[in-house]
Amino acid sequence: MYYPDELVEEVRMKSDIVDVISGYVKIQKKGSSYFGLCPFHNEKSPSFSVSQGKQMYYCFGCGAGGNVFTFLMEYENYSFPEAVKALAERAGVNLPEAEYNEEARKKESRRTKLLEVNKEAAKYFFYQLRRGQGQAGYQYLKKRQLSDETIHKFGLGFANVTSDDLTRYLKSKGYEDKLIQEAGLATFDEKYGMHDKFWNRVMFPIQDINHRVIGFGGRVMGDAKPKYLNSPETMIFDKSRNLYGLNFARTARTNNIILCEGYMDVIAMHQAGFTQAAASLGTAFTAGQANLLRRYVQEVILAYDSDGAGVNAALRAIGILKEVGLTGKVLNLEPYKDPDEFIKNLGQDAFKERIKQAENSFFFELRMLQKDYDLNDPESKTRFHREIAKKLCGFSEEVERENYIEAVAQKYHIGFDNLRKLVVSYASQTGLAAPAVRPKSGIQKKNDPKENLKKPQKLLLTWLVEEPGVYQKIKKYISPSDFTEDLYKKIAEKLFADLESGSINPAAIISLFTDEEQQREAASVFNTKLALLNTRADQEKAFHDIVVAVKRNSLEYFSSQLGTDVLALGQVIEGKKALEELSKTHISLD
Ligand code: UTP
Ligand code: MN
Repeated sequence: MYYPDELVEEVRMKSDIVDVISGYVKIQKKGSSYFGLCPFHNEKSPSFSVSQGKQMYYCFGCGAGGNVFTFLMEYENYSFPEAVKALAERAGVNLPEAEYNEEARKKESRRTKLLEVNKEAAKYFFYQLRRGQGQAGYQYLKKRQLSDETIHKFGLGFANVTSDDLTRYLKSKGYEDKLIQEAGLATFDEKYGMHDKFWNRVMFPIQDINHRVIGFGGRVMGDAKPKYLNSPETMIFDKSRNLYGLNFARTARTNNIILCEGYMDVIAMHQAGFTQAAASLGTAFTAGQANLLRRYVQEVILAYDSDGAGVNAALRAIGILKEVGLTGKVLNLEPYKDPDEFIKNLGQDAFKERIKQAENSFFFELRMLQKDYDLNDPESKTRFHREIAKKLCGFSEEVERENYIEAVAQKYHIGFDNLRKLVVSYASQTGLAAPAVRPKSGIQKKNDPKENLKKPQKLLLTWLVEEPGVYQKIKKYISPSDFTEDLYKKIAEKLFADLESGSINPAAIISLFTDEEQQREAASVFNTKLALLNTRADQEKAFHDIVVAVKRNSLEYFSSQLGTDVLALGQVIEGKKALEELSKTHISLD
């Protein structure tokens, strides 16, 4: 669905962000901006700011930010076109009916296509569950005590036994083989041609926070292996940045999210009224997911399996939660294995009781640690106490540390003064709050190399926004094509054009993106404050380094494209020249 850019911009200009947000959040003028309590995370002092000048909002606490469209998308759960429509109505702008003509179709991005084919597949699976072959699946879900309402809410479905069933259906709807493969719904085989990834399985569509289907999990109905098959990661399916059930959990209006391991656990909890449940996607919990949760709540209750693997996963998750500043608690599910089994056996009241009793994550860690020690043996007990003292050094805030020392001393019958002395002695050896030991899980490694490439690109954009004057100095060396990250390239294209014409329009740049995450990322370009370097000379050096890093990365990127891309050669020749010149050139910021 498309609205012309000019019309989107008209709607945006007629919807003053302060007016719109005032309807949802109490904000007060302070200096040049308005401030209030952030509606996207729990807080006691206002860090949510709205700028009338920039027509943007930004939360210094959780990083939520964007223009007036982003706000409605986040707050009301709207898609981009829905947000445009709602504001158009409010502002009295007439929108044409959604266009589906040839031209609009051509404009549609690959992302939109992938979302579309996934949605179509979800609808198909959903429909199959009610037909002949699907009866096996429907009976299976019934046996697992899911109500029709629950099946409907989660859009559960069925993949038939025939191994090219879905592919044939999607092709009949006009989708190309290539797209179907790219969505991870089928693979191509020399011998057998196209065949479905999922067959003879109960299907769990995985939705992003805006309820759009981005992938699937499929479960066998018996004991065959693998129990669950999941869609591969695609352009729209990033397993480290989405959570199953979060599309519902985010609006549960509880002050916590219950995080568990399984799709069935999420569903069972929602059915029992615990609509704040979400799960990771068959992979370990990541920092990206923790950041996502931080937008909605301050506290995460872990409801992981009670077996050894579950405990280890919980310990890892606690570390990650701590790193992003979320409070963690751990639910005891004994004697049952997971939330689904617990609720089935003991019911929702008992579960509610367990939530109330959820254990502080620090005490959970200590309790698990204790298993390695024999407290009847003074030697072993002393070592245990030392380990506790070491862990207590992890609290950098004095009040918090003292409170924990007190609580731990009481709980483990250690003299308060003795424990405190031990902590101080460790702290003096190793420093307080040595960064939390990162659990070995390789979670972040994956993103690191890319982060290094992204950072200078983002910083350069921020610099251009904060000091538009520098544009004249760098335009000789840098063009939008030097931004190798799609999102940044798109921002650069618009920003460079704006800078050329002499006035920048951040809020309009954000509307270039229809995806909430991308809007947020784009907004952050306009809200990051550059590190305050003391001298102009230091600033100039930092700026020079950033420009060089962007150019070098671009050169490397295009060199790697040589042979496949005709544009690359020109870009490489130009890049080499620019880099040479840049390394000799002093860029003055004045
Ligand atoms: P569990 O094995 O705990 O499954 O895996 P479960 O959710 O309790 O499933 P039921 O109750 O037997 O149906 C937890 C999660 O790990 C992922 C899935 O996301 C699952 O929900 N998983 C598990 C896989 O991706 N593949 C598998 O083969 C097994
Ligand atoms: Mn289970």
